[in-house]
This record gives sequence, structure tokens and C-alpha cells, in this order.
Amino acid sequence: MIGSGELPLAMTGGARFVRACLRRAVDRPPVWFLRQAGRYMAEYREVRKHHSLVEICKRPDLAAEVTITAAEKLDVDAAIIFADLLLPLEPMGLDFEFVAGDGPVVHSPVRTVEAIDRLRADRAGALDYVAAAIEKVAAHFGERMGIIGFCGAPYTLASYMIEGGGSRNYVHTKQMMYGETAAWRRMLDKLVVVLEAYCRQQVDAGADVIQIFDSWAGSLGVADYREYVLPVTTRLVRAVQAMGVPVIYFGVDTASLLPSMRETGADVIGLDWRVELDAAWRSMEYGCAVQGNLDPITLFAPEPVLESRVRAILAQADGRAGHVFNLGHGIVPGTPVENVQAVVRMVKTLGPQFAARGAQSGMEATHG
Ligand code: CP3
Repeated sequence: MIGSGELPLAMTGGARFVRACLRRAVDRPPVWFLRQAGRYMAEYREVRKHHSLVEICKRPDLAAEVTITAAEKLDVDAAIIFADLLLPLEPMGLDFEFVAGDGPVVHSPVRTVEAIDRLRADRAGALDYVAAAIEKVAAHFGERMGIIGFCGAPYTLASYMIEGGGSRNYVHTKQMMYGETAAWRRMLDKLVVVLEAYCRQQVDAGADVIQIFDSWAGSLGVADYREYVLPVTTRLVRAVQAMGVPVIYFGVDTASLLPSMRETGADVIGLDWRVELDAAWRSMEYGCAVQGNLDPITLFAPEPVLESRVRAILAQADGRAGHVFNLGHGIVPGTPVENVQAVVRMVKTLGPQFAARGAQSGMEATHG
């Protein structure tokens, strides 16, 4: 089992990543990038010339290839399976497409109680192509690389289903939440049934860790998050942990939500770049691991600036057990690949110095 036992002399990427998620000692922080496979990379653009995004997701050979190529090219410690947040909408009964430049569009958004009651929760099996891709990636990497499965969080997926796409104000979502609260809860319950089954397929196929994306949680105030979202999200987190893997719970614009997000019991909380890593971690009483939090746009900065930001994050983590180096959100199109590779090199060369400091000051968590 990756991640158990004493500090091995030569740690594999998979062991380093899973151990950090569990706040066990590592030789340096593991590093990977949100959206590490995507349009900024020529190899991905080449595959995209011949296949749509959904086609790549649904063909395990292509999804595995894209996942593996990106992780190898960057030489990171973990590979996130190539898929999309929106895939579970289809077996729930909603058609969607990706419109160039506009992001995802759901054709008949869920705007009524009747539409909520029509949503199907019994067809998660139709998503098995994601697990098939994970199997291929796991067979390729063995323990060399941590393998991350993922799904959307109930709130973020519900907001896509109700708004029909991205949103600025989440008016329809919040209208449903406040005005049809019982139906809202039924909708999130259905989502959890589907997501739990979907995550189980991914774990059975070899995912070492599951990341739950609550990308739009930051649209909620603390009281609403706690009343309408926290309990159902906690259920999903606990259900996935019961499958035997750590959970990373990630959102954007979440500074004031972090202590509440921590209450889900997720092993790792993802931080965006708007918070200082040390202050954010302290706000959660160091009771979890953290992942982050370089501003993805720093990847467009000159190398000395980039290095100073990487150093600042490592200094703030201060070698404590439980830091996964990542961006505060995803890599954007146009990002120079060589700058992403440079960050990996920096974490590999600078990281061990900080890790040693943390070990001296006895920062390793005493439990796992
Ligand atoms: O290596 C990886 O991380 C890629 C795998 C991946 C994709 N989507 C492929 C993708 C992952 C982890 C996602 C998650 C995802 N999808 C999220 C959560 C992460 C986040 O950014 O907060 C969300 C909100 C979505 C929904 C989504 N998919 C949007 C909003 C968009 C359009 C925005 C954009 O970047 O164009 C997509 C499309 C999408 N999903 C692309 C990729 C590589 C780019 C479009 C393409 O290749 O045609």
C-alpha cells in the first residue's frame, strides 16, 4: 500500500504524494498541477485536433494517453485523470456540450421541482469509461506516480445543472436553494448517490486519492455554505474516505469558508492564491493537509519572480508534514510549458531544504 510505513530512503512519487495527503513525513513536498493536461500543451492540442473533449474523456486509450503524457512531460509526483466535472450530468438525464470559448452549456437546465424529481441517480455505471482510463494509467505508472481520481462537489455540480453553465450571480441556484429547499436537498442527495458510486469505480480502478472540486463554493456566504452545502458534502467526503483513500477538497475564493470546509473532514484542503498559505493553514488549526497555492498567472512571470513566489510558498509551509505543492487554480491556455517545468525543478531542489527544517522543529503530525 502506497504511503504506509516509515520514511523510505528513495520515495516514489506515489508514496510522496499519498504520504503528504495523510500528513506523514516526506523528503520534500510532492508537486502536481491542476489542469496539467490541457490546451497550453502542444501534445494535447494535437489530440484535440482529431477528437472533441468529450470524445477524449470517453475513450480510455485517449484519456490515459493525455494523462500520462502531461504527467511525464512535467515530471510531477501525481497524475490527475483526464475527465471533466460535467460527465455525471449525462447519466442523470441532462445533455451538455462544450461550446468553444463559452465553456460548458447544459441544454435544459434544471429550473423546477419536477425537473429535480426527474433526475436519475441509478446510472452511474455509465461512467465506467473513466475507471477504465484510470486502470490504464495505474498499469503504466505503478507506484512511480500518485493517481488522482476526481468529481465535482454537490454544490458546484448542482449550480451547473441549474444555471445551465458558468454563472456570475448564481441567481437560479440560490433561488432553488432558498425557495425550494426540500427539492434542493433531494437534488444534492441524488448527486451524492451518483458521485459516491462514481468515486468507488475510480478507487477500485486504482485511484490513490480523490479530489472533490467545489470550484464555485466561493459564491456562498459562510452561513449558507453551512446550512445548504456542508452536511451533504461531508457525507460524500466520509463515504469516499471509507473506500480507503484520502480526499482533497478544493474551492476557489474560499478564504472565509476554509474553517467550515475543514469540517467536512477532508484530508487535504485546496487553497487558492488569494490567501497566504500559512494564515489559511493556521485558520484551520493545522488540522488537515493543504494543497496550493501559486497564482497560475505567475507562470507567465520572469523566472526570478516565479522563483521568489515558489520560495515564499515553501517558506510559509515551513516543512510541516502535509503540504502538496500546486497552483491556486488551473493552468490557463497560453502558459509556457517550460515555466511549469521550472516550478517542478524548483520544488525538487528547494523543497528538501524546507522539509529538513520542518523535521527539526518536530512538525510531523503524530497521527495519520
Ligand atoms: O489535467 C487536468 O486537470 C485536465 C482534466 C480536467 C478537465 N476538466 C479537462 C478539461 C479537469 C480536472 C477538469 C475539471 C473541471 N471541469 C472543473 C474543476 C476545476 C476548475 O477549473 O475549477 C470545472 C469547473 C470544469 C468545467 C469546465 N470544463 C469548464 C468551465 C471548461 C471550460 C473552461 C476552459 O478552460 O475552456 C471545461 C473544458 C475543459 N475541461 C478543458 C479541459 C482540458 C478545456 C477545453 C478543451 O480542451 O476543449
